[in-house]
Amino acid sequence: MSRGRTRIAPSILAADFSCLGEELAKIDRAGADWIHVDVMDGHFVPNITIGPLVVEAVKRATSLPLDVHLMIEKPERYIDDFVRAGATTLGVQVEACPHLHRSIGQIHDAGARACVVLNPATPASAVEVVLDDVDQVLVMTVNPGFGGQKFIESMLPKIALLRRWIDERGLDVALEVDGGIAVETIGRAAGAGADVFVAGTAVFGAQDYAQAIAALRRAADG
Ligand code: DX5
Ligand code: ZN
Repeated sequence: MSRGRTRIAPSILAADFSCLGEELAKIDRAGADWIHVDVMDGHFVPNITIGPLVVEAVKRATSLPLDVHLMIEKPERYIDDFVRAGATTLGVQVEACPHLHRSIGQIHDAGARACVVLNPATPASAVEVVLDDVDQVLVMTVNPGFGGQKFIESMLPKIALLRRWIDERGLDVALEVDGGIAVETIGRAAGAGADVFVAGTAVFGAQDYAQAIAALRRAADG
């Protein structure tokens, strides 16, 4: 198994939005690799968060790459807006994309890395034929819509299958997990083959962000 370098991407969904700029500066200093930004429209998921305007503000407040996760219906309508706002990587839910191959091309044309996201009930086979076209696959380890949920253990075989496909084809595709990632769960996700780890509560819920990120990295690298 050839997992890439461990990357920790704190999810700002768990940050204190009343002082988001300070929170981002603290995360920069705390050794995070990327910033994970959850965009929810109240339709694809039963929650509403932020749009391109806030992504733009986040981009101004951090030097880290933005890993933007679109949990919205018809994402193709907003791909250009989110890339223009500063998304380094743009993730679209395969369940929201009837023309997934076209949406991947649109993300690349806009100048960003393309990520395809699988809900817990969606099999790996949903991305098998586009694996050569993407830069990243995100396996949701919770049902999307909220932070602070429990890690779904039954996602581990799906992570391992995707890792096997990526390795067998010799692809440079990052394998990301999102939801319930903590010191107690990250080791199993890494063992199954994941190499990018989103963590909201485990980082922003901690007293010391640097210690929390270092502990996650140690647990992932074993
Ligand atoms: C949930 C989001 C996740 C969430 C992770 O729909 O996509 O990124 O913020 O939060 P934790 O790490 O608290 O589960
Ligand atoms: Zn997310």
